[in-house]
Amino acid sequence: RNNERESLFVVNDFAAKFFREQLLETEEGRSVGMAYFRERGIRPETIEKFGLGYSPEGKSVLTQAAVHAGFPLKRLVEVGLTIQHEEHQSGIDRFRGRVIFPVRNLSGRYVAFGGRIMGKRDKTAKYLNSPESLIYSKSRELYGLYWAKSAIAKAGKCYLVEGYTDVLSMHQSGIENVVSSSGTALTLDQIRLIRRFTTDITVLYDGDQAGIKAALRGIDLLLEEGFRIKVVLLPDGEDPDSFARSHSSSELQSFLDEQETDFIHFKIDLFREEMARDPLRRAELITDIMGSIALIPDSIQRAVLIQSSAGILRMDEQLLASEVNKLRRRGI
Ligand code: CTP
Ligand code: MN
Ligand code: MN
Ligand code: MN
Ligand code: MN
Repeated sequence: RNNERESLFVVNDFAAKFFREQLLETEEGRSVGMAYFRERGIRPETIEKFGLGYSPEGKSVLTQAAVHAGFPLKRLVEVGLTIQHEEHQSGIDRFRGRVIFPVRNLSGRYVAFGGRIMGKRDKTAKYLNSPESLIYSKSRELYGLYWAKSAIAKAGKCYLVEGYTDVLSMHQSGIENVVSSSGTALTLDQIRLIRRFTTDITVLYDGDQAGIKAALRGIDLLLEEGFRIKVVLLPDGEDPDSFARSHSSSELQSFLDEQETDFIHFKIDLFREEMARDPLRRAELITDIMGSIALIPDSIQRAVLIQSSAGILRMDEQLLASEVNKLRRRGI
């Protein structure tokens, strides 16, 4: 089984190198893939650092090269680089016609790839990712952690973003303590990976409904695991990549420093309009906020947060405290 894992790693090593060469050394790669990265403001040194690549349009360019190099088709299929249909017994490339973001695990091994379609897309998904395999479980990896480890340790905190390009753009702006949950809801396994380096997280999700919803869910999970959480809400429709590209490095850094709030303020600000609308809704939302506080394992932290939210919400502190205790007993 270890041998089998190792053989999948070796296939991915080959693919990572192949995708890079296609990007840098072929006419198609330069005119399509490189042009795409250039247009997005992704610089050559970033392409180099993250080992970005290009998978050609042809149906099976990678598969054929790998088979020619001696890799069994079976392995390519197992690791998800090749798709074998009834009508395509020889296999077609999963990522054909996409730019490639290799996913490296904590020790730097290539466990998976993400591929983004360029230009217009019809029904196909914007991003395709490697399927689950012996060496890859999406819910257990964090894109960017490999390149962020030392910066997280140095800064004593970590930014959590949604996507591949958010990680890249933040690095280009000089912020390297950043990891991405890659679109999926944050998982306990991912949180435990981060905990090896820090317990301070700043959630920096996209400024849209999906991003806010994912942030709220992520916050509760992180609170329950004892993390200290800050949140930055980006302007409507922006993500860290788009924001970083329309602002200078120092503008981005001061935006993050200034906008960073604790999760209580984040929730209260988010709920403010709705709370003003009607008293019953206000009651529900206050209960929601107390529900988040109730998840925190440390009793002193809970007490301090209850105290400060009582002040902001103009509610009786004892009442809020007993509500939090009730929610804790219920195990919410
Ligand atoms: N994602 C995915 N499959 C999709 C869409 C998204 O796996 N069909 C993941 C990708 O890791 C993506 C992340 O979710 O980076 C965030 O999604 P989104 O915000 O929609 O994409 P961006 O990262 O902003 O990508 P881009 O800027 O290239 O459009
Ligand atoms: Mn998004
Ligand atoms: Mn985004
Ligand atoms: Mn984006
Ligand atoms: Mn406030």
